[in-house]
Amino acid sequence: MNTKNVILFASGSGSNVENIVKYIRESEISINFPIIITNKKDTYVHKRAEKLGIPTKTMNRAELTDGKFLLGILREYKTDYIVLAGYLLKVPTDVVKAYSNKIINIHPALLPKYGGKGMYGDNVHKAVKEASEKETGITIHYVNENYDEGNIIFQAKCEVLPTDTFQDIAHKVHLLEYEYFPKIIIKTWF
Ligand code: GRF
Repeated sequence: MNTKNVILFASGSGSNVENIVKYIRESEISINFPIIITNKKDTYVHKRAEKLGIPTKTMNRAELTDGKFLLGILREYKTDYIVLAGYLLKVPTDVVKAYSNKIINIHPALLPKYGGKGMYGDNVHKAVKEASEKETGITIHYVNENYDEGNIIFQAKCEVLPTDTFQDIAHKVHLLEYEYFPKIIIKTWF
């Protein structure tokens, strides 16, 4: 069987990217990560990528939201699957259609709660705290044309204590992400 190419997209620090690559490299599954695509020049994901020995490609918003252009790049890297790991831009329709059920995103809350526009990063955890939720968690889902609305593949929960700060909540959610995201990627596609 030929080794599949998975392209990781990230806008942030890339701790999920690092965790996914390390987990898969230590597993028996052979997956190729030819490039990490990001929309941010100065983010920490570049450092992590360098340590992992994976090149990064920084593209601007116009390029990343132009379906035909992005498809050209994805074809250049013979992309089989796409993983969005803390990636903040919308995936253009042409790409969603060409990669139907082959793009997965992780959202740091229990969708459909705390999803949609503006619900990213700490905004999500602040909203969870503001609403005095007793639990939150992660949602791993396929990507369709609307933010956070693709079919849900997996969710995991954690408790929110009244004393938790939004940073505490973020930490608990990150732990769930590290535990489950690589496993669910493998289970879904490999
Ligand atoms: C994660 O919490 C992810 O769910 C969200 O953005 C965060 C990215 O963190 N979409 P990192 O860049 O992987 O550290």
